[in-house]
Amino acid sequence: MEIILIGYMGSGKSTIGKILSEKTEIPFFDLDQIIEEKEKMTVKEIFQRKGEIYFRKVESLYFNDFVANNDHYILSLGGGTPCYANNHEKLQLPEIASFYLKVPIADLVKRLTEEKENRPLVAQLNVEELEDYIRKHLFDRNFYYHQAKHTIDASQPTDEVVAEILRKLT
Ligand code: S3P
Repeated sequence: MEIILIGYMGSGKSTIGKILSEKTEIPFFDLDQIIEEKEKMTVKEIFQRKGEIYFRKVESLYFNDFVANNDHYILSLGGGTPCYANNHEKLQLPEIASFYLKVPIADLVKRLTEEKENRPLVAQLNVEELEDYIRKHLFDRNFYYHQAKHTIDASQPTDEVVAEILRKLT
């Protein structure tokens, strides 16, 4: 079983992925973590030292490499992964169940205000700037996010999000 979770920063991809993994016993992987292990730097450090273009290059590289070499996983992507190179094409592969965890802007602002430190794209923004930034960003990214086979309302309680994904998988 091959499951990919996508969605904006703060949409709960890693949290949902871990719970889903416990329930299904399918191993969980987080692309940001894979990148950090391979590059021996945090995502924040990669942005600071090498820049975003380098980050996008290695992000696509490790994503494509992972999909080509694994066949039993739950993989959460970074918020931007489906929006660069041809990465979104993987979401449509017949063997992959892809889920877009959709969260309203107001909830994303709330969640990201609390946990933006390690997210270089939004770390410097105040609350008003954050809302504006997310709105524009989602406008650009919507097309890619909707390439996922399923869209899940991820503003629901975590257990319900997981239950909905499990229902779609059966
Ligand atoms: C990014 C999202 C982050 C991380 C990087 C860029 C984005 O992942 O890959 O900071 O472009 O949306 P999370 O969505 O896991 O925070």
